[in-house]
Amino acid sequence: MHETGVPEPLVMAITGASGAPYAVRLLQALVAADRPIWLIVSSHGFRLLHTETGIHSIDALREAVGGPAWDRVVTVYEDRDRGAAPASGSARTSGMVICPCSMGTLAAVAAGTSRSLVERAADVTLKERRPLLLVPRETPLSMIHLENMLRLTRAGAVVMPAAPGFYHKPATVDALVDFMVARILDHLGVPQTLVARWRG
Ligand SMILES: Cc1cc2nc3c(=O)[nH]c(=O)nc-3n(C[C@H](O)[C@H](O)[C@H](O)COP(=O)(O)O)c2cc1C
Repeated sequence: MHETGVPEPLVMAITGASGAPYAVRLLQALVAADRPIWLIVSSHGFRLLHTETGIHSIDALREAVGGPAWDRVVTVYEDRDRGAAPASGSARTSGMVICPCSMGTLAAVAAGTSRSLVERAADVTLKERRPLLLVPRETPLSMIHLENMLRLTRAGAVVMPAAPGFYHKPATVDALVDFMVARILDHLGVPQTLVARWRG
């Protein structure tokens, strides 16, 4: 939390793994919660947004999330601009979520390569010991994927594979999406009412 009482921005990256609907729903929930967001979309993040949701541009994403509310809290950064605010540890943030996270980006973060703003912002988040949440989707997993996830977990990141449960008996794709987004919001400390908590 900043001295002004306004929460520090959360860096959110959308990369090219299947699961673009998770990103849209998560953005809607964060914007509805009035969380300042620094948004970075990789080129394949856009490709998957288009393929899976029909969203083909930042303007279309803004429309899908809710224009006026978006304008209040979302700042968009170019993935190729490694000099933008999220690239520096001196810019205060509350952490970062990469949703969905491709195995390519996950590997780059595990290796600390920082060749894009997404990768650099994640590297900064780790070095500043801020929360880093990655939501990968891939199956099956190779030894390299598993080792990269272990490395990130040991470095303090939370790896939360997009693996929705079925015990709440989802009747729609939206209900499956909400299941994952609710778990992500829990980890980000954002109150959620998307999915009722399991009471046994
Ligand atoms: C239709 C499509 C689906 C893909 N699905 C996945 C996926 O589920 N998981 C994954 O790790 N990569 C997936 N990829 C591959 C990534 O998009 C690719 O490795 C890309 O270079 C990732 O770049 P980025 O991390 O900068 O977005 C997919 C690619 C396409 C075109």
